[in-house]
Amino acid sequence: MARHRPELVVNCAAFHNVPQCEERPEEAFRVNCTAVRDLALICAEAGARLFTFSTDYVFGGERRTPWGEDDLPRPLQIYGISRLAGEHAALAAAPGHAVIIRTCGLYGQSGTRAKGGNFVDGRVADARAGKTIEMACEQVVAPTSTDDLSRAVFALAAAPALAPGIYHLVNEGQCSWYELTLAIAEILGLPARVLPVDRQGRSGTMRRPLYSVLANHKARRLGITLAPWRDALERYLRRRYA
Ligand SMILES: NC(=O)c1ccc[n+]([C@@H]2O[C@H](COP(=O)([O-])OP(=O)(O)OC[C@H]3O[C@@H](n4cnc5c(N)ncnc54)[C@H](OP(=O)(O)O)[C@@H]3O)[C@@H](O)[C@H]2O)c1
Repeated sequence: MARHRPELVVNCAAFHNVPQCEERPEEAFRVNCTAVRDLALICAEAGARLFTFSTDYVFGGERRTPWGEDDLPRPLQIYGISRLAGEHAALAAAPGHAVIIRTCGLYGQSGTRAKGGNFVDGRVADARAGKTIEMACEQVVAPTSTDDLSRAVFALAAAPALAPGIYHLVNEGQCSWYELTLAIAEILGLPARVLPVDRQGRSGTMRRPLYSVLANHKARRLGITLAPWRDALERYLRRRYA
């Protein structure tokens, strides 16, 4: 920070393996909350803005309409709790400098190393290998292209007089993981065998939200919009697998 004197710091680091966060809550809070707080303090001291990512998993409950930035979060598991704590910690440590970007269901050119790639490429590989794909049909999300997300993040950074606070950035619309898998196969014309599975978001004692679609209310008010999820997916698949 001292050497480069950045005006903007973008923090993509997170402990985002949801089941592992249940097993290692202290590590989850260290990476997703304490480290974010420390980074916010350093940024505030240096006069730099901090953009730090958060997640749709801060939400839970019965609702079936997209969550806005002002809706009350209700995380259902340690991962979501640690991320929500990180949001509060960043905003408390750097009230004039912190921007929280909540997003959802990311896929892009460089997959997540910790998860061995991205969801979309994983399903393409499964379909090509002729596997029967069992996929959650009860969890509804807004799958988001990192290409579109990063463009929106740059637009946010360039917005004159951007106020600190929480912003949602996801591709428009919604689908279940099952519907997303069907769409991947359909766009590429792969003869995939996809079976819907409904576990009510539960794996063991851990719960995932059944509906975590975000609404980009604040970005839209700044004139920043993202494409519908299926258009973004089609663009990604055509570019990657053409
Ligand atoms: N992927 C999604 O669907 C999704 C959905 C909602 C929100 N998000 C959020 O978006 C952000 C980026 O996620 P992503 O999917 O792009 O994940 P990613 O590719 O796995 O990137 C996370 C980065 O964090 C680094 N990291 C993890 N633990 C660290 C530690 N203790 N110290 C330093 N660096 C550490 C990882 O380094 P290594 O590669 O060296 O491990 C990796 O470069 C995260 O905040 C994530 O929670 C993602």
